[in-house]
Amino acid sequence: MATETSLKNATRMTEKDHEHLGQLIDQIRHLLEKHSAVAKETATAMETLRRHVASHFAMEEESPLFRDTGDQAAWFRQPVKQLLQQHRTLRDQAAQLAEWASRQQPLPEGWAEFAVRFSQFGQDLLDHEHSEIEIFQRAYNEDIGTKD
Ligand SMILES: [Fe+2]
Repeated sequence: MATETSLKNATRMTEKDHEHLGQLIDQIRHLLEKHSAVAKETATAMETLRRHVASHFAMEEESPLFRDTGDQAAWFRQPVKQLLQQHRTLRDQAAQLAEWASRQQPLPEGWAEFAVRFSQFGQDLLDHEHSEIEIFQRAYNEDIGTKD
């Protein structure tokens, strides 16, 4: 038969356990809020990158380095054609990633996929910019056939 003391003890233990459950729920709520804030921030940053990639490529394509004057050396024309093709691909990929991030998939596996795709995109973009610089540096040092 339960005494007053044992009932008091049981109540205290139950309350303590409730408190612990409440803390665990708060912890998960907090993590979900943090995740949602990070998802939102990532989407905003990805949209900024998409815009910057688009305006960067547009600026480059307007420059004399990309304009085909028809009298450039063959070694220069082919890589420039490739760079322009990469611009199209990278611009599309940036738009897809920004669109995907703006939907802010709440599931961790969704973001894991985004991270993999973004990592590849980032590497491709840096590789592209690196080849661009190499080609243009070579163009500064060699005659590419333009009249300037
Ligand atoms: Fe560039």
